[in-house]
Amino acid sequence: MSVNKEVKRVTTHTLQKMKLAGEKIAMLTAYDYSFARIIDQAGVDVILVGDSASNVMAGHETTLPITLDQMIYHASSVIRGIERCFVVVDLPFGSYQSNSEIALASAVRIMKETGAHAIKLEGGEEVLDSIRKIVSAGIPVMGHLGLTPQSIYKFGTYEVRAREEKEADKLRADARLLQEAGSFALVLEKIPAALAAEVSRELTIPTIGIGAGNGCDGQVLVMHDMLGINTEFKPRFLRQYLNIAEQATKAVQHYVGDVKSGDFPNQKEQY
Ligand code: KIV
Repeated sequence: MSVNKEVKRVTTHTLQKMKLAGEKIAMLTAYDYSFARIIDQAGVDVILVGDSASNVMAGHETTLPITLDQMIYHASSVIRGIERCFVVVDLPFGSYQSNSEIALASAVRIMKETGAHAIKLEGGEEVLDSIRKIVSAGIPVMGHLGLTPQSIYKFGTYEVRAREEKEADKLRADARLLQEAGSFALVLEKIPAALAAEVSRELTIPTIGIGAGNGCDGQVLVMHDMLGINTEFKPRFLRQYLNIAEQATKAVQHYVGDVKSGDFPNQKEQY
């Protein structure tokens, strides 16, 4: 893997150029300072402070409970750990759906209180006014179509979306609308690979896929899933690069054994 060291800071402009050059965009979630540092230095282009923090950091079943204050806490921790990455923060459920004024106020809080570079929100036509309003205030917006976890109780299932032509057509139309409204990029979650590839070809802004195949302009995964911190979630689209849960369990068991046996601390480990 080669990291483009010439890029000091990734910006929306960088991402646009990557799409044009056919260079894939690597995006990963992070929620704290220490992992953000590792991810930034490992060459990831975009960090998403996802509302998946609700699941993997707070242990909730869905992304719905996380608050704007909690997202701000996670995002400001992430920002302190990065030098090169572009940082996008999810607007949490309830912080933008009511109207575009509230959406803008939430986005402004994120930008002011965290130092992040952009926000992401879920939905198509129904959130267009909010996207326009936020973009016109100078805040870059990433869209999110397909499986949108904040609507899980409407969908009723985490199954692949837009398999049916009617839903696929709506997704195509929404993607165009989001681009026209000024979004700088678009997450496509859990939709058929052929549809994601078609949308990616048609749009001029980059698409970032998760469970949407190889035809997207970039990919995103939840850090806890790909590092094997959270081992219960094993969808087909996930590639698990490490099994931290197993390694950490062994290390902690080792530590407990050393404490119980009196082996830790030894003479060199005391003053
Ligand atoms: O919250 C999140 O982590 C996300 C990704 C799954 C795209 O929205």
